[in-house]
Amino acid sequence: MGPRTTTDRRPRSAASRSRSGWAPAAALLLALTTTCAGCAPGDGIAAALPGAAGVGDRLFPTLGNGGYDVTHYGLTLDYTPEGNHLKGTAVITARATQNLSRFDLDLSGLRVRTATVQGARAHVARSGNELVVTPAKSVKEGEVFETVIAYDGTPRAVEGDDGGLEGWIETDDGSAALGEPTGSMTWFPGNHHPSDKAMYDIRVTVPRDADGDFYDVVSNGELIAERDKGGTVTRHWRTAEPMSSYLAHVSVGYFDVHNGWTRDHLPVYVAVDPDESEDAAAVPRLVPEIVDWAAELFGPYPFSSTGAVVDHLPGLDYALETQTKPYFAEAPDESLLVHELGHQWFGNSVTPRRWKDMWLSEGMATYAEWLWEEQRGGRSTDEIFQAFYDGTDDEAEGIWAFPPADPPSGGRVSDPPVYGRGAMVLDQVRKAVGDEDFFRILHTWTRRHRHGNADTGQFLTLCESESGKDLTGIFDAWLFAKGKPPRARGA
Ligand code: TRP
Ligand code: ZN
Repeated sequence: MGPRTTTDRRPRSAASRSRSGWAPAAALLLALTTTCAGCAPGDGIAAALPGAAGVGDRLFPTLGNGGYDVTHYGLTLDYTPEGNHLKGTAVITARATQNLSRFDLDLSGLRVRTATVQGARAHVARSGNELVVTPAKSVKEGEVFETVIAYDGTPRAVEGDDGGLEGWIETDDGSAALGEPTGSMTWFPGNHHPSDKAMYDIRVTVPRDADGDFYDVVSNGELIAERDKGGTVTRHWRTAEPMSSYLAHVSVGYFDVHNGWTRDHLPVYVAVDPDESEDAAAVPRLVPEIVDWAAELFGPYPFSSTGAVVDHLPGLDYALETQTKPYFAEAPDESLLVHELGHQWFGNSVTPRRWKDMWLSEGMATYAEWLWEEQRGGRSTDEIFQAFYDGTDDEAEGIWAFPPADPPSGGRVSDPPVYGRGAMVLDQVRKAVGDEDFFRILHTWTRRHRHGNADTGQFLTLCESESGKDLTGIFDAWLFAKGKPPRARGA
């Protein structure tokens, strides 16, 4: 779905233009063309042209697609854990942002069986991770259109450039789908760039296992229906607030479910793999405690429910802030819980517009850890800052490799500078503007860009306008400059 605020509005077609460079030629073509598929000669309607194969993200040029904006994904999945077989139907509702003769979806692996656009059979072709869909009749700019893709096969986990395993990952008792930055295309076709948020209805059907027990299915949002058909069970999860596709999640396996409430009456759903139940004993209590704490610091919690998935997936060395229920490959410690829940505000509700804006998510989620430690009788944020600066904190390793707001290539968006040095930027801003202004800036940020996308420039502008201070020196040194800045102010 489209971003909600005016400041959020991004000329998406301009982005695709600058990427591919075909725009001037296309404009010329438009000016000269008098006829086009689906429009009468001389009626002034722009010709239908192919949508771009990417949204123009410098770090990931082929992620996402141009020419349309998805508003809703209806994913109906049939998953058989034995043999790792997935059969899916994706109903994708989108609004065309140009006249489209054809458009791309991102999809990796799997077999596409059939495709329709507006109920009519469409032609599909595969080219790398691009699924090229040519509708029988071109789609008009502004039109809301429905694409249905039926697919199946063995979904794969992929090794990202960052070295992390992502995609549809098999576990010892089922599977876990993790999508940052590119893994979601391994289990459903879509517009896989963070800038295109949409609502989701995810229905997953799983069989009984050899003992006759059902597998559990956990996903984002709220469980709204469950259907036992004897041999199979279907669980329907709904995400009623906008979500970027890298945050979409499905876990299949066995889980103990802990239901609860936050102080603000938000439903809490914590699913724990029995293999982790002892180590994760505090998680069902900690989730609402952390969410209530964070809501005071950052503003109202942005979604209809919260929770966590504590899986047992030894070897996966990261957690992911999957929307409403962050995913943990093993029982998390307090600071990791704080980090992933902090992302619900920074990353999930306010989402980076481009991957290079990731420090806004990771810096803030890391800073949430610092704040938690400071307020729970651990080190002060000053001390943590110092330990990062001096390199005595374990997580300080590698933080000077590149400026946080300018990662060198796609695979580096999860590298230490984006996290640790990102948090240092925020601490420097806090010291410069004072606590009152700093926390007001955070509240304004989460309110203004709630459920949208935002970028580095917007954050810097907000910090300066809210505080009335010139912060260029801080941002230049901590955010944009190469190498370790000279000893900081207040340090
Ligand atoms: N964004 C995740 C977090 O902050 C971490 C993460 C996701 C990650 N994918 C990764 C880390 C790949 C390293 C490699 O918790
Ligand atoms: Zn993070």
